[in-house]
Amino acid sequence: SQEKPWAGRFTQPTDKFVEEFTASIGFDKRMYHYDIQGSIAHARMLAKQGIISKDEAQTIMAGLESILTDIEKGAFEFKVSLEDIHMNIEARLIERIGPVGGKLHTARSRNDQVALDVRLYLRDEVKAVLAYLDALQESLLAQAEANLAVIMPGFTHLQTAQPILFSHHMLAYYEMFKRDAGRMQDVAKRLNFMPLGAGALAGTTFPIDREFVAEQLGFAGVTRNSLDSVSDRDFALEFCGAASILMMHLSRLSEELILWSTADFRFIDLSDAFCTGSSIMPQKKNPDVPELVRGKTGRVYGNLISLLTLMKALPLAYNKDMQEDKEPLFDTIDTVKGSLKIFAEMIAQMKVRAEEMRLAAARGFSTATDVADYVVRKGIPFRNAHEIVGKTVRYCIETGKDIPELTLDEFREFSEVIEADIYDFVTLEASVNARCATGGTARVAVERELARARAERQG
Ligand code: ARG
Repeated sequence: SQEKPWAGRFTQPTDKFVEEFTASIGFDKRMYHYDIQGSIAHARMLAKQGIISKDEAQTIMAGLESILTDIEKGAFEFKVSLEDIHMNIEARLIERIGPVGGKLHTARSRNDQVALDVRLYLRDEVKAVLAYLDALQESLLAQAEANLAVIMPGFTHLQTAQPILFSHHMLAYYEMFKRDAGRMQDVAKRLNFMPLGAGALAGTTFPIDREFVAEQLGFAGVTRNSLDSVSDRDFALEFCGAASILMMHLSRLSEELILWSTADFRFIDLSDAFCTGSSIMPQKKNPDVPELVRGKTGRVYGNLISLLTLMKALPLAYNKDMQEDKEPLFDTIDTVKGSLKIFAEMIAQMKVRAEEMRLAAARGFSTATDVADYVVRKGIPFRNAHEIVGKTVRYCIETGKDIPELTLDEFREFSEVIEADIYDFVTLEASVNARCATGGTARVAVERELARARAERQG
């Protein structure tokens, strides 16, 4: 029958538009698998506790399995009149196995049921996000390894600052995504507690075994307060928070890829597979993928703010407002997974233009700091050294020369302490390789970090 499970106290049918307006089936049907999985664990517990008979539980579980098969075959009709995934499945169960199906909801409410479903669902999605993150980290590592000694300009204020290794730049993102993975693992840890048994809000009068349900579903334990169990959406917020930071990192990488593939930078070539053309300008190859990921970062931030605002000031325990938690959460999951998936591939296929990077690194007096450090090592205070090299650079600008092109006499105009060995310090390689303390851009330092990253991935 199409009759609503809660119709008992009502005398009039629900307004058609209200039905549509209040329904969540359009989006919460994606949790069908978890709803059924949770119901099976619940039915098994009810039988174990003697709340329903073993036969009844068998019938219910077989009915649920057959519904799962139907949904997977596309042979299940989701009804808006049945509001959400929980009632759609329960109504279908009763239709299929008869009144005994009505025993499934004993000692349960949709409030603890939905809290369980979202946790189960998100727990798997976090695993999927972690797998995509891993693939992206692998692509970054592989690019770093393949281009270990390629020198590029490092920037501050987007002005040429000091030469760095391209591999060092890739490993910077590796570190960011490693922290993102850590945040996702934290989310998984804290969400892994089983809320069923909270009932509508106060618990249940039936002699249930919550630990047994938790164990069946692979939870680390049960939640400790029934009101909190049905009111808490922290886990979704934490996920959206971690996802926002992750997208911020992807967006920064996007920005750099977009910049690097311009005709002005020419540092990289993105594969044609990740770009599109212009309908009017025949020469164009646009970096749509990084642009879109940069853009989609905004919607993920928006989802976080939606969810925070949704939860703000809600009185305990369940409120219908909370049905609005799903779309921002689902959209965040889809966006993050899609962005990571496409980035892992795009980074793997990215072509590095080592010559262009090197030429750019040589421009902009990128080894000026090395001259200053040299002067400091000769006993001059750093502030004076800064002044000396500042004047040297001004001389270079006025005469159109680069630092390594200056004669020794020209150098010595600015400081007597400069000797012929200055030329050993102003090459790009010398500049890079001098920064060899842990975390620096020197080739040996980068090699160490690459080895460490490889080891931590194998371990
Ligand atoms: N569809 C609802 C949601 O997503 C399920 C819980 C409904 N509970 C209730 N008391 N109306 O929040």
